[in-house]
Amino acid sequence: MASTVRVGIIGLGNWGECHLEAFHALPHAEVAAVADPRPDRLDVAKIKYDVSSCYTDYNELLERDDIDLVSVVTTEHLHLDPVVKALRSGKHVLVEKPVSTRLSEAAEMHRVALEQGRYVMPGHLLRFDPRYADIRRAIADGEIGRPVSMYMKRAREQHLFATYSRTHTVYELMIHDIDLAVWYAQSRVRTVRAYGRSPSGSEAPEVLWACLEFENGVLAFLHSNWMTPDRAGIAIADQIEVIGSGGTASFETSNSGLQLWNETGRTTPDTNIHIKTLHKQTAGSLREQLLYLCDCLGRGEAPDYVSFEDAIHGVEIADAIVKSAAGDGEIRL
Ligand SMILES: NC(=O)c1ccc[n+]([C@@H]2O[C@H](COP(=O)([O-])OP(=O)(O)OC[C@H]3O[C@@H](n4cnc5c(N)ncnc54)[C@H](O)[C@@H]3O)[C@@H](O)[C@H]2O)c1
Repeated sequence: MASTVRVGIIGLGNWGECHLEAFHALPHAEVAAVADPRPDRLDVAKIKYDVSSCYTDYNELLERDDIDLVSVVTTEHLHLDPVVKALRSGKHVLVEKPVSTRLSEAAEMHRVALEQGRYVMPGHLLRFDPRYADIRRAIADGEIGRPVSMYMKRAREQHLFATYSRTHTVYELMIHDIDLAVWYAQSRVRTVRAYGRSPSGSEAPEVLWACLEFENGVLAFLHSNWMTPDRAGIAIADQIEVIGSGGTASFETSNSGLQLWNETGRTTPDTNIHIKTLHKQTAGSLREQLLYLCDCLGRGEAPDYVSFEDAIHGVEIADAIVKSAAGDGEIRL
């Protein structure tokens, strides 16, 4: 494959535009085409990013033979068809989290990738955040001993829930921590117990707790919520503590990092996931993830840092969390 990776993006909503921005700023990637049924989104690609090939039907993008990699950034429950068709048309694929909201679909993606000899990488970008990645390294290097118990919190501003209640909170937020917990524990989950609460009466819980017990005895307590008041000005209020037999790794985001104080109050914006910098580069774990993937493809190596088997197990755990929180008690996988 040529050293420049030619990319197609399917789904150009909020996060798809972040993919476009980050790919656009990478030296060894070129966004050859984008697809979204909404013409206004295609106009953004044309005008802001100078993408010349924009399609309302993604099948036209997939018919092209000059595209190496497709990013699938459609709405959570609409990943299967573009992923499978992209693989069958000979492209490698990056599929956003959750890889699917259905276990059978996640397994199908993996099966088709193997059958076609193409790569499908799950978009679990926190594995590319140096803070989370360094916890994994500390575990692997024996710096905190064997993991015993983990606590992971993910909290977002209330106004976002109007959009993201479209999917159960486990697939939207907690899936990040499920992936980290599986990655750190290096084991499969044996039992799941979860609780959800919806102060607004929504079908998807605004507050979700889950306790995972792994086959090797590790415990993980996961907490996701959409309860940060908008006026608190804290984009991301996340926390992690991994207690090992020989030490602890932890960080908390709401009181650290960049703070802006002005007449409208205080804001604590994200600077770790994705930002556009003044010199037209992007920074954050999304960039690191895309860079890693393009590097692997350019060198003809498998992008195996995020295993698809882990992503499939993540969806299996998420399904059990939905059932348990709905009243089914403890679920044994
Ligand atoms: N990794 C992260 O931190 C992160 C952050 C945000 C979102 N996401 C994930 O990214 C995905 C997209 O989320 P979003 O917030 O951008 O949603 P969004 O609703 O803003 O965008 C989804 C886009 O997909 C388009 N779409 C729907 N059907 C399509 C089709 N058949 N062909 C092409 N495009 C189609 C829609 O028109 C829309 O523009 C989800 O899986 C979400 O969970 C990941």
